[in-house]
Formats: sequence, structure tokens, C-alpha cells
Amino acid sequence: MTILTKKKIIIANWKLNGNLILIKNLLEKISLIPGYILKSIDLILLPPHVYLLEVKRNLFKKDEIYIGAQNIDKHFFGAYTGETSVLMLQDIGVKYVLIGHSERKKYHLESEKSISEKFKIVKSCNLIPILCIGETKKEKQLGQTEIICKKQIDEIFNLLEHKDETFNNSIIAYEPIWSIGTGQIPELKEINEIISFIKNYIKKKIFPKKVKNFFVIYGGSVNSNNVQRIFKKGGSDGLLVGAASLSHKDFSKIIYNSYYTNKKENI
Ligand code: 13P
Repeated sequence: MTILTKKKIIIANWKLNGNLILIKNLLEKISLIPGYILKSIDLILLPPHVYLLEVKRNLFKKDEIYIGAQNIDKHFFGAYTGETSVLMLQDIGVKYVLIGHSERKKYHLESEKSISEKFKIVKSCNLIPILCIGETKKEKQLGQTEIICKKQIDEIFNLLEHKDETFNNSIIAYEPIWSIGTGQIPELKEINEIISFIKNYIKKKIFPKKVKNFFVIYGGSVNSNNVQRIFKKGGSDGLLVGAASLSHKDFSKIIYNSYYTNKKENI
């Protein structure tokens, strides 16, 4: 499975939220967005696992909107009560898997090693990993943002055998932990600098081969008002949206505003 996009990627991470009514309302609202706007983005919805099939069944444009999972287990099958495997996700047509979200590290004590193993499993099944990386407030204050991102990327490189292909067909979401759910976002200059750092670091690592289909997006307190700011002078390949993706009004506005900002930036 490959991402063949030159478009902006917009990902909705619903976290532990949503129900059948929300799914119906949200998809109805998205269906009102003109086709030329939807075609200009890769839209990926990450509902809780229990709703994946419901979202998939109700997608009105199955080839323009994708579904993804918020997590997977490290095992393919077996006695692991309560878990979901990558094979099951593949079975129902899931294309993307979010990995290493800071909330999983905080509340489920996920280690960097376990995150790398999950990344490897997702790749081995030809699904597309969306790897979250980012620093805490303290690390930012100490000026360690680049060091932390580099360390989190290195953990992945260290575990994969075919290092030059590690980040082919992958997305990295730069999500500063201090920004998630707080309404605070980094300065535009900071976002563009770190995104460019991540891209260059990965390119340097796999020299002389070229990384293919690799994208870096921004996440953390994205809403319809700050989208223009994030996309301005466009370092980011897209957005990972949390709370604002649950409101059909806000999420539609994010899509519209992304479209118009990127159109302006590309003139
Ligand atoms: P918020 O957009 O609610 O800050 O969440 C960001 C996030 O964690 C997306 O994965």
C-alpha cells in the first residue's frame, strides 16, 4: 500500500470519543464539502476500533476518505484479551495506523521499543504508519526539541532491518506534548523549522537512496482559526487533529480553511 499524494493530509484522531450519531452527523457534513476541495486533501478518519466498520460502511466517497486505527497490538493473534491485531485491521480495509501517541505512552506506559515493534509490524503488513513524535514542555524549555525528535526517530531506525526503506510510505506527526489539548501551539517558524529538521534528518540517514512517499504533519491544538497560520509558508504536509475533529462544524471549517490557505500559498 502506498501513499501517492502531493496533497495535504488531514487526519482526525477521535481518541476515546464518538458514537453512532456523531458518525452520521460528521459524515453527512463532510459529504456537503465540494468534491474539488475533498480531492485536494487526503482525509483520514481514526475512530475508536469499535466504530471502524460503521465509519467505513457510511463513507460516501470510499476512494477519497480513508480509515485508520488509533493503535494495534504487537501480536498478530493469540491469547491477548482486549487487543486488536494488524491482521484484523487489514481484514476490514484499514489503511493507516497511528503509533506512539503520547497519550498511549502516558496512560498505557508504552515504551519506545514497543512503539518501534508496532511500526515494524504495520510496515510488514503494508499498512501506513503515522508515527507521533514530540517533546514535553520541559524539554522544549531546555531547547531539546530536535534531540528528542531525533532520538524517537532513531529508535525506529534501530529496529528495522531495511533501514533505507524504513520511512518509505510513512507519515510522521510532529505533536509537541505540551500542545495537545492545551490550546497552545508553537510559533509558525518553530513548526516549519522542526518539520524541515525531521525531513532532512531522515533523508540524511538513508543517503544515497531517496525516501519515497514520506510526509511530516503537525498535530496539537489544531482548530479552524489556526489552520491558516500552520499552513502559511507551508512546511507541514498536513494536520493531525484531535478535539476539533469531533465537531462537524469545526472539522469542516478546518478542511475549507486548509484548502483556501494552501491555494493562496501555491499561487
Ligand atoms: P488536540 O487537537 O485535541 O490538541 O489533540 C491533538 C492530538 O493529540 C491528535 O492526535
